[in-house]
Amino acid sequence: MTEQKATNIFWQQAPITRNDRERQTGHKAFTLWFTGHSASGKSTLANATEKALYDRGCHTYILDGDNIRHGLNKDLGFAPDDRTENIRRIGEVANLLRQCGVLNMVAFISPYRSDRRGARELSQDDGTFIEVFVDCPVDVCEQRDPKGIYKKAREGIIKDFTGISAPYEPPENPEIHLQTDKHSPEECIQMIIDYLIRNELISD
Ligand code: ADX
Repeated sequence: MTEQKATNIFWQQAPITRNDRERQTGHKAFTLWFTGHSASGKSTLANATEKALYDRGCHTYILDGDNIRHGLNKDLGFAPDDRTENIRRIGEVANLLRQCGVLNMVAFISPYRSDRRGARELSQDDGTFIEVFVDCPVDVCEQRDPKGIYKKAREGIIKDFTGISAPYEPPENPEIHLQTDKHSPEECIQMIIDYLIRNELISD
């Protein structure tokens, strides 16, 4: 838990609520939190899911690890504390997007269970934080290696690389479990859409 440093700060109640915003957009605001190894398919699935939901008229946004690390989180590296801070900030941003009525896709490795739990807790377990485990064996991710980074990790050029020289703690009870070495992206996206319809987060 990050300590609050500031004192003498007072919570301001906003006149327009999340419910008001959801009424305006005509849909629920929720987070699809994609977690998994690099090259497991998180960004591909988050992008394709966003397209499918955007095409249905939903207000959507994507937060992607590689992109956010160019800006908001450019001061963070890959040591355990930095990854924890990375996920803490993104959990907060995802929560802000939910308050804005925006349906958001988050694609970060997010290797630690406790960090993902922290991001989930901001939703007060109201069913609008949906953990999507993008499950793919490391050796398959390594064969894919679209950015050539597994090769660099094996050569020792990249240190603390998830799955090679740094840990990944798989989710124990993800809302959605996708095996991207067994199912096509289209099948995985359909499983996500089916989950959302089944749980009345989007309409059929
Ligand atoms: S996280 O662990 O803090 O959640 P994040 O998703 O933001 O990671 O960033 C992962 C991306 O950073 C990878 O897809 C890869 O492109 C790049 N990267 C660079 N160094 C590392 C590393 N040591 N471990 C994992 N990913 C790395």
